[in-house]
Amino acid sequence: MRTDTPKTILLKDYQPPKYKVADVHLDIRIFAGKTLVTATTRFTKNHDGAEPLVLNGERLKLVSVAINGAATTNYTVDDKTLTIPHPGNEFTTVIETEICPEENTALEGLYMSGGNYCTQCEAEGFRTITYFPDRPDVMTIFTTRVEGDKKTCPVLLSNGNLIEDGDCGDGRHYAIWHDPFPKPCYLFALVAGDLVHIRDSFTTMSGRIVDLRIYVRAGDENQCDWAMESLKRSMEWDEKTYGREYQLDRFNIVAVSDFNMGAMENTSLNIFNTALVLARPETATDMDFERVEGVIAHEYFHNWTGNRVTCRDWFQLSLKEGLTVFRDQEFTADMNSRGVKRIDDVVRLRNMQFPEDAGPMAHPIRPDNYIEINNFYTLTVYEKGAEVIRMQHTLLGDDKYRKATDLYFDRYDGMAVTCDDFLQCMQDSSGVDLSQFKLWYSQAGTPEVTAEGHYDAAAKTYHLTLSQTVPPTPGQPDKKPMHIPVMVGLVGPNGHDLDVTPPPSVIPAKAGIHTNQTMDSGLRRNDEKGVSYLLELKDSKQTFTFKNVAVKPVPSILRGFSAPVKLHTNLSDDDYRFLMVHDSDGFNRWESGQILALRMMGRMIDTVESGGAAVTDPAFIDSYGLMLDQANASNADRALMARALSLPDLAIIAQQRKIVDPDTIFTVRRRVLHDLAARYRDQIQAIYDSCNTPTTYSNDAESAGRRALKNVCLRLLMNGPNPPVSLARQQYESANNMTDRVAALSVLAETDGADRDAVFADFFKRFEQYPLVIDKWFSLQASAPIPSTLDRIATLKDHPAFSLLNPNRVRSLFAAFAMNNPVCFHAKDGRGYDILTNAIIALNTKNPQIAARLLGPLREWRRYTPDRQAKMKAALERILAQENLSPDVFEIVSKTLK
Ligand code: ARG
Ligand code: ZN
Repeated sequence: MRTDTPKTILLKDYQPPKYKVADVHLDIRIFAGKTLVTATTRFTKNHDGAEPLVLNGERLKLVSVAINGAATTNYTVDDKTLTIPHPGNEFTTVIETEICPEENTALEGLYMSGGNYCTQCEAEGFRTITYFPDRPDVMTIFTTRVEGDKKTCPVLLSNGNLIEDGDCGDGRHYAIWHDPFPKPCYLFALVAGDLVHIRDSFTTMSGRIVDLRIYVRAGDENQCDWAMESLKRSMEWDEKTYGREYQLDRFNIVAVSDFNMGAMENTSLNIFNTALVLARPETATDMDFERVEGVIAHEYFHNWTGNRVTCRDWFQLSLKEGLTVFRDQEFTADMNSRGVKRIDDVVRLRNMQFPEDAGPMAHPIRPDNYIEINNFYTLTVYEKGAEVIRMQHTLLGDDKYRKATDLYFDRYDGMAVTCDDFLQCMQDSSGVDLSQFKLWYSQAGTPEVTAEGHYDAAAKTYHLTLSQTVPPTPGQPDKKPMHIPVMVGLVGPNGHDLDVTPPPSVIPAKAGIHTNQTMDSGLRRNDEKGVSYLLELKDSKQTFTFKNVAVKPVPSILRGFSAPVKLHTNLSDDDYRFLMVHDSDGFNRWESGQILALRMMGRMIDTVESGGAAVTDPAFIDSYGLMLDQANASNADRALMARALSLPDLAIIAQQRKIVDPDTIFTVRRRVLHDLAARYRDQIQAIYDSCNTPTTYSNDAESAGRRALKNVCLRLLMNGPNPPVSLARQQYESANNMTDRVAALSVLAETDGADRDAVFADFFKRFEQYPLVIDKWFSLQASAPIPSTLDRIATLKDHPAFSLLNPNRVRSLFAAFAMNNPVCFHAKDGRGYDILTNAIIALNTKNPQIAARLLGPLREWRRYTPDRQAKMKAALERILAQENLSPDVFEIVSKTLK
């Protein structure tokens, strides 16, 4: 147990920096076993008094301090700061420190991966490289000299443009990089090592030529083309969509295999997890390809939203992350299928962010306190943050939104600003009042919206009453009503949207956000336009009256998922069956099918819990048949149909329950899959066959859609009577791409027998040289909901290919197990909890960030059955009792137990 409680940082304590930095020169000399850092920094005073200069610095060996050229001992140091009594109004410090990247297992600051040196400074890693004001509102111009051994470090990179390089004798060389644009130190980066690169170029809209390079370990260079193409598409998209041009001569991406997160947007030197760069059809799935494209875009887009305009303090993290996620989501939507992308993003939000927002760590997208900022790189800050930007886009419409972002870049280029500053631009430029909307930044919790419609045939009016509540969250017992954009359509009995007289001040949805234009595809003919209305719910209860409504409509509410809320309606199953086929909004067609499935499974779980036997509703089976017919049509949008034919995930079903029993949920979902497969075996096989046209591989969206639908069918068949194991085996053997191979492997993973063992042995041998594929090998085994998984994990964690020091590997075993495999993780005897707890304890000192991430699955312990609750609580208490608990782990465990 920690004896000291780590300090909580509060938003309301923010104060501007006492000293600013005019520029900094870093001289970083890398030797085996030690790295010497000399920082020459020009400070200017930024306050009226005579405050001391306080610099952040952790895990540093201080060698010397000089002020204005004279060595000094007039300072104090502790384990977190270096303090120099008021050095004057303008002065230069030269500080020498020594660090040991070879021993850095936390992967924060300067560390080693695969024999190469690299950095990760966001959020507060720079303070482990040298003493510095490590806060985002101190922006300055960096010049970096990197020196290293020519043999082990032929490549020397930092931010900006290369201005000089050369030999320094003794088998050593150096490179000097200069970034002329001021930036905070969290965007500093350095790479030194033995890497190869691929090269391309991009001509910007003003005609400048940018040298683009992707650096990887030798042997991986043939897996980089997709990332390079994605980078060029991103650069073009940002020019076209936001008018944003790139400013430097170079743009480098370096892929490293040991990385705590996905990637990092360091100015002109993005550092990436290999998982988000390397992609070839033989080794990466269609989903991997899409993630690479999306994350390359995300980091590139940060160049403007994050780097040129950055955050004043870390409470404002969503200023850059929410906005940049919204931008990458829209990019992916433009590059692929918009409707499918929206569904996937909403599924992710519901699966992972909704529980966070309902649990003990719930926080607003702009938190107001933290112990360890790394714990706040959350789905709330990122994904809900993106939804909050999306709502502003919806409320303003395309044109006004674009004008507002122009103003934002114009007003704040080169500055560190707040979420309020962003909102102010949206408001100033559009005239739209966002004062109530601001609550989305400060109130946590997922709002619940209830919709009730009433048709008055005599008056030909339709009244839609919307009400809202925002649930209490830790520290926020009472909430105010939010400003919620609710996109609505009224569907007539013939399946067409009615064109009616909307309530005063509501105009049919603004151009560019009219969901039909963008969402329509798939489940229904694409031959007529829908009509949507944007209702702005602001009070706790409001009635909207539509006039000239000739016939009784079925309302389609929250089209395109226009707000991140939970919606309750009084629509009947029949209404949803109707919308599932007729809604002009693709999202709501999909949603209607999901609601039907959720409602039915909810009833089945109730039955099981009260001792009965669950039966799959024949009406549901029938409506599923309608979807299969559509999926089998030659013009079907197969990617969308793959989503429509998938039942809601276990995690989403669990959210509907007061008390979660993972076994019952799993059994019921299995029962439904089984009954669907039994009833529609031939149709499903026919769709499988029609998607399985053995052509040469192509990665276009249409082919990927075929693969997605085919593999949903394979999974259905494998859940039915007489699972076609040999079909799966054959697909595994004959696959010419990783999507099909892994899909077959994942269904075989859930069987027990010779076929399973054979394919897993083959897979390992085939891909031994590809760490990212071996990650899949681990994660498929850990995710299999079969009893033998628990034993298997014990063996896998001692496998020679397993390592606690590699975050991807840790995630592939422990996170996959605890997050994707609720049945085994929540095994009644508590073994699943023990496995995870031991991993967290082992990682606590090695890599606190990863240890803290692994706590996620224990967070909602209060929602499980009493026996499980007790065991999960005991696991958390066992962690809390550890000595040397990192602030990262301490913060989450203590808040979770509170
Ligand atoms: N800014 C990065 C991104 O979203 C994330 C880096 C976060 N890293 C961390 N250790 N907190 O692209
Ligand atoms: Zn980001």
